[in-house]
Amino acid sequence: MTSRRLLLGSLAAGLLTVAGLAAAAQELPPLATLPPVPVPADNPMTPEKVELGRQLFWDGRLSGNGAMACSVCHLPELGWGTATPISFGYPGTEHWRNSQTILNSAYYNKLFWEGSVTSLEAQAPAAAGGGVAGNGDGSMMEMRLRFVPEYVEAFREVFGTDWPKISQAWQAIGAYQRTLVTDPEQVPFDRYLAGDETALSEGALRGRDLFEGQAGCIACHNGALASDQRYYALGVPAAPQFDDDSLFQITLRWELYQKGVPEAVYRAGDDDLGLFHVTKRPEDKGRFRTPSLRELRWTEPYMHNGVFATLEEVVAFYNGGGGAGNTVLSPLDLDDRQQADLVAFLEALSMDEPLLQDPPELPQTQTWAEFPDEQN
Ligand code: HEC
Ligand code: HEC
Repeated sequence: MTSRRLLLGSLAAGLLTVAGLAAAAQELPPLATLPPVPVPADNPMTPEKVELGRQLFWDGRLSGNGAMACSVCHLPELGWGTATPISFGYPGTEHWRNSQTILNSAYYNKLFWEGSVTSLEAQAPAAAGGGVAGNGDGSMMEMRLRFVPEYVEAFREVFGTDWPKISQAWQAIGAYQRTLVTDPEQVPFDRYLAGDETALSEGALRGRDLFEGQAGCIACHNGALASDQRYYALGVPAAPQFDDDSLFQITLRWELYQKGVPEAVYRAGDDDLGLFHVTKRPEDKGRFRTPSLRELRWTEPYMHNGVFATLEEVVAFYNGGGGAGNTVLSPLDLDDRQQADLVAFLEALSMDEPLLQDPPELPQTQTWAEFPDEQN
């Protein structure tokens, strides 16, 4: 395969300097069209469960103050994320990371920028309960659901239990998120793979060669998601918000503290340390999970702290050899046209139109006196 030879050539030329990458390159999964979404055996999908999950995703009852629904930070018209580089946080706080798109999150085997949870069902309570996200108490959120007759009925139908359980809410939201995936027929690159040779522009085709060759992107962004789901420290510049905004600094120190980092690291903490927070291994400082490159047209800004507003900025960052202290990237020496070609290829991994949805109408909370007889 030409592209693989090119890649190995660029690795040999020292453009990518980590030996592990070179080893992994021997067996890189090629870019490919996404397969049907994987569904866990213990949470099968039904249309009723997906519909319930859709309502719950938009429902502020699944948060502390009744107003921080998942959709607040994952808005369809903002690529199912937020427009701000770092997501805003629960009222009174700031978050510390860019709100990831939830498009195609069903395909990852590890979620969040440092991959700390391994299923959508485990991710949802972490989001709804997280101090700078939903900040909700599980038993309170569950009780709120039990005061909505339409939910009681829907949970009974979907899960066969008398009363809604909060764990079932996370299952329903997981099922719903498994429907928020790329439609290959709408993606130029997937149409090209399916045989439509006109689907990619000349520039995008040249960009693909660079991606798989001289630019070495494929070393980490491979397979159907264009992510190897491993962790690397690219030296992405620190978010400027941490320099001079006390609310961001409070969140940063709080995250360090509650994640139990050693005292010295806590005292010196002026940036997000990524995977280190999970493993506490010094070599994991600044390492983040390789994100998917699908749907980028709709999901700006980019990187764990949203520090780059455009794909041009991202490509310029790689062209310059990444950021300070990184040991995995070297300068690429691409001219302006090559950089534009790479951007054209990245854009061709997105659907022609963003996946949009209107908010559902939410059912009303009732007093117990107003419940239908059969629910009392
Ligand atoms: C206050 C804003 C906020 C709210 C509310 C929120 N999220 Fe998020 N979400 C984020 C941010 C920021 C991240 C990245 C966090 C990180 O990596 O630590 C994220 C990450 C995720 C991811 C991981 C995606 C990936 O690629 O790994 C999923 C899935 C997700 N959120 C779903 C949800 C669901 C479901 C809810 C509601 C139960 C929710 N979020 C509520 C801001 C929010
Ligand atoms: C050594 C592994 C590696 C290589 C090589 C690599 N990337 Fe990445 N890429 C990552 C990681 C890790 C991140 C997230 C970094 C962060 O947020 O700190 C990332 C983030 C990105 C993002 C932002 C995505 C988002 O949703 O925020 C884009 C775009 C991107 N890479 C494109 C490329 C391109 C184009 C190339 C080739 C020029 C490339 N990458 C080479 C590992 C890699």
